[in-house]
Amino acid sequence: MRTQVGIIGCGPAGLFLAHLLHRVGIGCVIIESRGRQDVEQTIRAGVLEHWVVELIKELGLGARMMREAHVHDGITLQWNRERHHVDINGLTGGKRNIVYAQHEVLKDLIAGSLAHGGEIIFGVGGTTIRDVETDHPAIDFRRDETGALETIYCDYVVGADGFHGPGRQAIPVSIRTEFQKIYPFGWLGILTSAPRSWEEIIYANQGDGFALLSTRSPEMQRLYIQCNPSDDIANWPDARIWEQLQARLGTDDGWSLTEGPIVQKGIIPLRSFVCEPMQYGRLFLAGDAAHIVPPTGAKGLNLAVADVLVLSRALEAKYKRNSQDLLDRYSATCLRRVWKAERFSWYMTTMLHRNEHETDFEQRIHFADLDLVRTSEASARSLAENYVGLPFD
Ligand code: DHB
Repeated sequence: MRTQVGIIGCGPAGLFLAHLLHRVGIGCVIIESRGRQDVEQTIRAGVLEHWVVELIKELGLGARMMREAHVHDGITLQWNRERHHVDINGLTGGKRNIVYAQHEVLKDLIAGSLAHGGEIIFGVGGTTIRDVETDHPAIDFRRDETGALETIYCDYVVGADGFHGPGRQAIPVSIRTEFQKIYPFGWLGILTSAPRSWEEIIYANQGDGFALLSTRSPEMQRLYIQCNPSDDIANWPDARIWEQLQARLGTDDGWSLTEGPIVQKGIIPLRSFVCEPMQYGRLFLAGDAAHIVPPTGAKGLNLAVADVLVLSRALEAKYKRNSQDLLDRYSATCLRRVWKAERFSWYMTTMLHRNEHETDFEQRIHFADLDLVRTSEASARSLAENYVGLPFD
């Protein structure tokens, strides 16, 4: 089969790109190794930056999001059993993020794409990228385990296939440099059917370390606690999870955390990772294929959307005006934003977690960082600007 842009991966990067290309009349096909159900049900973070919300609305995909999302004006930081409200809206001249789960965004994007005739092939195997150094790159794949080999011939290949996909591996090791930091802690995430106990997301560093309280709907809450990344979830019976959440989120002002049945739980490791460059020949990487952030601050999806916005503008310039310049600058343009998001995610992560490899001195510095956000408007504004998403430059 033949298309203009062959996209590997039906996550946020691949799907947003397909919509952005469709809007300017550029053809594409997405292939995805997982099934549609799997893609639509995998639970991830849930915070959309202000400009991503506007983009979803512009693409005509915002109706359900605007009905169901939880909108709030700020976030709450907590340490020493005290809470501090950061007025994100006031500090950024009226911007606000929303909480709307990533898999709900994906459902809306997949439905929207199929409705306008977009092609997404789920459940493919054996994906191989070739000839990206030439002007006729191709992607080979099998529709299912036993299926015959098929090929997408295209002008450009986009590796939007996550950290473990073949996209990044198609850049020769002699060309790419990888930067990585592994944190000595992970997140235990739960979904609980319990009503909301606080109107904003709470980021806490208290007791044995980090805890986060977020929401999915008025009746369904999402919470995380810092844990050992290689711990077995079997070591975390529900009673222990609630006991730790109560200790890390507790205050002395009579507030109480509402508990409920835990309907899902799992542990994820935390890592920072960047691959440079994000482009090789006619192959372009986007999203987790090129960079990973630890989840504190929820930058992952937003950064993936930023990549493909840059890429869609560059492809439009190429197809409409035969201008190569933006395509040539894709990697450098994206990496400027990527490194700032890496910095912010690292800052939020180190400030909010208990790290047993750090000295007491370093731990005290993190609490000083938190207190700066409370006492210095400049510090609070810096956090707020990063949280809602930095401007594109
Ligand atoms: C959520 C996840 C995050 O990483 C975060 O910083 C805030 C909220 C969430 O899943 O709701």
